[in-house]
Amino acid sequence: MKIKSLFLAIALWCSMAHGQAQSSVTDKQPDRIMLTWSDDPSSTQSVSWRATGNGDKIIGQIAEEQSNPDFETNAHTVEGTQSYLERGEQKDIYNHVSFRNLKPGTTYTYRVGDGTHWSAWNQFKTAAQSGDFSFIYLGDAQNDLRSRWSRTIRRAFQQESNARFIVHAGDLINRSNTDEEWAEWYEGAGFIHQMIPAIPTPGNHEYRRDSTGSLVLDPHWKVQFNLPKNGPVGLQDAVYYLDYQDLRIVSLNSQLIMLDSVAASTQEKWLESVLASSTKKWNIVVMHHPVYSTAKSRDNTILRERFKPIFEKYGVDLVLQGHDHTYARGSLGRKRPVYLLSVAGPKMYESDSERWMDVATAQSQLYQVIKFRANKLYFASYKLNGQLFDSFELSKK
Ligand SMILES: [Fe+2]
Repeated sequence: MKIKSLFLAIALWCSMAHGQAQSSVTDKQPDRIMLTWSDDPSSTQSVSWRATGNGDKIIGQIAEEQSNPDFETNAHTVEGTQSYLERGEQKDIYNHVSFRNLKPGTTYTYRVGDGTHWSAWNQFKTAAQSGDFSFIYLGDAQNDLRSRWSRTIRRAFQQESNARFIVHAGDLINRSNTDEEWAEWYEGAGFIHQMIPAIPTPGNHEYRRDSTGSLVLDPHWKVQFNLPKNGPVGLQDAVYYLDYQDLRIVSLNSQLIMLDSVAASTQEKWLESVLASSTKKWNIVVMHHPVYSTAKSRDNTILRERFKPIFEKYGVDLVLQGHDHTYARGSLGRKRPVYLLSVAGPKMYESDSERWMDVATAQSQLYQVIKFRANKLYFASYKLNGQLFDSFELSKK
């Protein structure tokens, strides 16, 4: 009996020790690693991650990628900052680091961690001073992020793996502040945003009303996406612009334009100043709600009456939108801007408006690749088997 008990005790101890060893390796590594820019893409790179280890350091390490496996000894160490995400009883830790003084057009390898628990070494590339580049634009993800949206972002990455960034046009998840959905979003995107920065704008599904009736942005947004603080005061979480080589890309918070008259006027004035001061060859606006809807029952009057005239006055090239869960392109007989709607996730609506669309489809998950070559912009939309669905080009003199 005694020997049998001893064996059982040993077996139990072994299984516990094994279990502990496993959790110490997998559970304490940084996860939800996300590249964004909070500053100049040619010389800086921001990284956010969720810390699950118990180390008290917040560190990013970086080295120029030169293919030598001994790069770690020469890696430069940067200290980061911490923020918290309250989730009921639980408080999750999100860390941030910004790498600075980087060389333009250069591939770097980096990792983040607490000094004990580290991410893998990932790569990113800084913006060049000039030259050709491309980016990916995705419409609403929103539902079935792990099982069905994942196909879209992965296929887009497979095709355009050298894309310099990925635009997410709002409704990244379905129910604001639902951590399980963000978990699915990160699983769906895999390692892609550890290599390619996101340029996100929020949609209506990133918002909720609090007990006082005020609109509140999902608190995940701020801790995950470290974005430029060049928007109007009070709206800087989601209203911003980024200059990438010859392109100025502007994110508007259309949920607040639709539902908050003060925020709408503030963004109107700010947009005008940001476009008036742009010296860039190309100007693109990203926002969730479309200026022209693809459904007769939907209408976003304020965008047409107050924002469209500004887009036209300053010759905005593209307006990238979502929300209607269909694909549409139209420029209403003008050269600029071209209005686009697309959907990346599986939720679909009918497309029954013919007022403005030059090209339209429904029931199709799509991804878009926008390429800049000298004085041309090439826009292409693809089905998930890689088949080209729609394309056009714009030229500058
Ligand atoms: Fe939406």
